[in-house]
Amino acid sequence: MELNGMQRPRRLRQSGAVRALVRETRIHPQQLVMPLFVAEGIAEPRPISSMPGQFQHTLDSLARAVEDSVDAGVGGVMLFGVPQEKDAEGSGATDPNGILNLATGFLAERFGDATVIQTDLCLDEFTDHGHCGVLDDRGRVDNDRTLERYNAMAIAQAEAGSQLLGMSGMMDGQVAAAREALDAAGREDVAILAYSAKYASALYGPFREAVDSSLQGDRKTYQQDPANRREGLREALLDLAEGADVVMVKPASWYLDVLSDVAEASTVPVWAYQVSGEYAMIEGAAANGWIDRDRAIAESVTSILRAGGDTVLTYWAIELARSLR
Ligand code: PBG
Repeated sequence: MELNGMQRPRRLRQSGAVRALVRETRIHPQQLVMPLFVAEGIAEPRPISSMPGQFQHTLDSLARAVEDSVDAGVGGVMLFGVPQEKDAEGSGATDPNGILNLATGFLAERFGDATVIQTDLCLDEFTDHGHCGVLDDRGRVDNDRTLERYNAMAIAQAEAGSQLLGMSGMMDGQVAAAREALDAAGREDVAILAYSAKYASALYGPFREAVDSSLQGDRKTYQQDPANRREGLREALLDLAEGADVVMVKPASWYLDVLSDVAEASTVPVWAYQVSGEYAMIEGAAANGWIDRDRAIAESVTSILRAGGDTVLTYWAIELARSLR
């Protein structure tokens, strides 16, 4: 066998030191965003059974969680509200005293610029039918009337003190509409994170428990078909043209091809959301002793960054950031 001149990639794997020296992808705490849930009318934080270790927070426990994420060096927090009352229009979403706006103001006052307070801008947590928009008289999600609700939400969240609005509703034209509404209100300073390529995924299952979702049916008329790769890029390019400050792909791990496409084409930061089902699958397998939990968490987040994500929304953000220090 002729071995002279043989390529030997193993040379660079011989020790931890050399592997660290040639490593291409690293996780930094500031690249992580912690999603947090705040519920109206509860006296104690309430565990979310399908997301072990995650809670519906009270205002007090929410503030402690944000403090933990700041201490751990996490880049920011993304807030979701769980209201007590829901209606067809999702009134709680635009009420300054609605739980999400209230919590945002509470945190903005306490934390100021010490972290980046971000809010979910979508109606599904606030509507009694559980859809991300308002319905027309035939029960279909009415795109353009929903934009009016989103615009009002954008203003309410900006006024409450949110710095980055996470537009997760997948309505056509939502970024352009909200940008225009914000600018007209003198809030050019508030940024928009577009959940650009958001797929109709089974991986949102645990989240539906987390926000006490009342959805019957599915979101397939607005969220994307998991089979479509090209369309993910199309959605991201549209959001770029509409003025998105950040674009996102969601879920993350099963959509790394889409993430890679978007990362290649984007002129703004590209984020990815490691969603509730991705979290639950690893936690569930680890609880059964079927997988090495810590390695699986680090590998999953590393892979999302390797595929081209700049920042990852992950329910492990605080824990992972701590472990990196
Ligand atoms: C919509 C929204 C959802 C998630 C984030 N924003 C739910 C959905 O689209 O059904 C899911 C996040 C997760 O599963 O972790 N407000």
